[in-house]
Amino acid sequence: MKGRSDDLVLITGDDPAALARAASASVGEPIPWVGAGDERASSATVWFASSLPPAAALELPALRWIHCAWAGVDRWVGRPEWREEVMLTRTIADLPRRMADYVFGYLLAMELDVARSRRQQEERRWERWTAGTLGGKTMLIVGHGEIGRVVGAGAKALGLRVLALRRGPVSETERGEGVGSSESLPAFLAEADYVVNLLPATAETESFWNASRFAAMKRGAVFVNVSRGRSVDDAALLAGLDQNRPARAILDVFRAEPLPTESPYWAHSRVWVTAHVAGLGTDETEGVAFAENWRRWRAGEALAHVVDRARGY
Ligand SMILES: NC(=O)c1ccc[n+]([C@@H]2O[C@H](COP(=O)([O-])OP(=O)(O)OC[C@H]3O[C@@H](n4cnc5c(N)ncnc54)[C@H](OP(=O)(O)O)[C@@H]3O)[C@@H](O)[C@H]2O)c1
Repeated sequence: MKGRSDDLVLITGDDPAALARAASASVGEPIPWVGAGDERASSATVWFASSLPPAAALELPALRWIHCAWAGVDRWVGRPEWREEVMLTRTIADLPRRMADYVFGYLLAMELDVARSRRQQEERRWERWTAGTLGGKTMLIVGHGEIGRVVGAGAKALGLRVLALRRGPVSETERGEGVGSSESLPAFLAEADYVVNLLPATAETESFWNASRFAAMKRGAVFVNVSRGRSVDDAALLAGLDQNRPARAILDVFRAEPLPTESPYWAHSRVWVTAHVAGLGTDETEGVAFAENWRRWRAGEALAHVVDRARGY
């Protein structure tokens, strides 16, 4: 598909003007755009969305391409605006590095017991202890895509052994590098000290993390969920924590967001809750990523990071 000279971009997000500025600066010329409140919005041919799709479907009869400013596109599956003839692309940009920072930042904070040193400082108490370390441990990355591969490379650089799971098919070379598909999961779980969930939310991954998968984990393992809350059976995770499988959980994403105040996760001493912050981009990075695809669109080149409708990711 090729862009046309009369293309009009609908931009939605917290600050559409900032996104348009960043994209235009990157392209080197103004991008023709409108906000959702503009009367011309219904004639948009392209939708650059840095927001959840709105509750009510938009009437966009001329739409040909939706570019989502996020990496996870599960909220777009089944949307009436994503018609058969409309393309959907997603954003990678600096998200893999941000996600890797989050994973290693929180794991290191836990192993080093950053919270303890802070408490001791506040109490002016001098006490020494030998910290835990990531090096020499095994990390299992479930969902070895754009983000999982960058997390894996970071883990290797920190001296971890890396195992990874993807849907597949998996080549012999990949198997030799510790990558497997679903039949490898029980063996991988038995070996992993850290399990990082990076699966997209699809019909297949709904409650993927269930009682039998937590039971297959090594006692003392740490579970990190940075993908989507829907992939976890929460009752099974809470029961697993009671059995130390996993012993601790670092959770950035939840079935209901914001996480309801009555959720047992908030007060759980071995759960670390963050507010879906692991991979938030900026207007600048989101605008630049859109600009690159806009350039391709206008030139009639293949777009980057096209979502596969049949797979749902
Ligand atoms: N917390 C945050 O702020 C944040 C930010 C960005 C992204 N995310 C989440 O991170 C997810 C991953 O992003 P990504 O860009 O790395 O996605 P991606 O490039 O699409 O990779 C997804 C990986 O999951 C694998 N997979 C899919 N279904 C599977 C199944 N049923 N069983 C086993 N493996 C399966 C895929 O296997 P194949 O390689 O065989 O296709 C692929 O390796 C996103 O979908 C999003 O939900 C969260």
